[in-house]
Amino acid sequence: AEEPPTTSRRSGGPADSAFLRACRREPVPHTPVWFMRQAGRSLPEYLKVREGIAMLDSCMRPDLVTEITLQPVRRHKVDAAIYFSDIVVPLKAIGIDLDIKPGVGPVVERPIRTRADLARLRPLEPDDVKYVTEAVGMLTAELGDTPLIGFAGAPFTLASYLVEGGPSRNHEHTKALMYGDPQLWAELLDRLADITAAFLDVQISAGASAVQLFDSWVGALAPDDYRASVLPASAKVFDAVARHGVPRIHFGVGTGELLGLMGRAGADVVGADWRVPMDEAARRVGPGKALQGNLDPAVLFAPRQVVETKAREVLTAARDLPGHIFNLGHGVLPSTDPEALTRLVEFVHTESAR
Ligand code: CP3
Repeated sequence: AEEPPTTSRRSGGPADSAFLRACRREPVPHTPVWFMRQAGRSLPEYLKVREGIAMLDSCMRPDLVTEITLQPVRRHKVDAAIYFSDIVVPLKAIGIDLDIKPGVGPVVERPIRTRADLARLRPLEPDDVKYVTEAVGMLTAELGDTPLIGFAGAPFTLASYLVEGGPSRNHEHTKALMYGDPQLWAELLDRLADITAAFLDVQISAGASAVQLFDSWVGALAPDDYRASVLPASAKVFDAVARHGVPRIHFGVGTGELLGLMGRAGADVVGADWRVPMDEAARRVGPGKALQGNLDPAVLFAPRQVVETKAREVLTAARDLPGHIFNLGHGVLPSTDPEALTRLVEFVHTESAR
């Protein structure tokens, strides 16, 4: 018998992947899973390729970015890759004097605190980050049907590093500026929104299938302050990249009280940490969004049976959601046993496919 005519495609591409289907709130064969910070220090193969190469230098080398991004996909069989970079890369690219200090995080030599300092935040041009365009191109070619998630830091979280000059527990300089000079603060966040949107644009234009906006530290704010001082800038970022039609994910830590407002900022998918059960997170975020989360990354240090029980609890809480992407409630902790992560991926896949 003759073969029926086919549109013979070697690969359908990522469009029909469980991850993108879940982002679009379509039925999935299994719950997709990926981990924030899945590439990095939990993997011996990462430590090996990074030997003697500074973090920010590695982010500017497409060969290394490609290899490091692929490592967790190969090892854990996660449903999506996340582009290997850091939230401060676009700031470095426009000439901000910052570095990532091992074991500390991003450190800015001259913090941004005055109107005169604002001028140092010039717009980001695609040519500032040619290595990103190149690396995303290499990655999408290698990844086939596995989607690539691009990302950026959200204006508030970027501002916190720029204003504090480094990591901060209480964000006192940041809040002093936000409360003390609302006009300057709004201009700062607006510039950061433009830089962030331009950086996401580069990644999507080069082939990223989805993007995540990390507002890691915004949980430090009360809802009224978030609404007045942060939401407009984050909404500007989501609006600016909407035309591409790729799913936009929004995530922060300790944001239980902000989930409703974060939903309003415009993302298609909202991430939650482990402090709010997924069904409650979905109620707070409101209708029309997929949810991502939310196993406590520290649970991976408990015995295997406990990890499975806790992972099953996440799946159960998310059972009736139209779209759920399994993730941790924050990034993989550096000393996590990689085998526990591999087992977790397999568990989520089999458990959710029943
Ligand atoms: O796998 C992935 O998720 C992609 C890689 C990634 C990195 N940073 C690599 C990295 C991503 C998504 C980020 C985002 C990032 N960077 C965020 C948002 C996510 C979050 O965790 O909330 C934040 C707040 C930063 C700022 C930052 N950069 C911190 C707090 C640190 C850790 C400092 C330390 O050493 O403990 C970094 C450095 C960094 N970024 C590392 C990696 C792999 C570690 C440095 C190294 O390996 O040499």
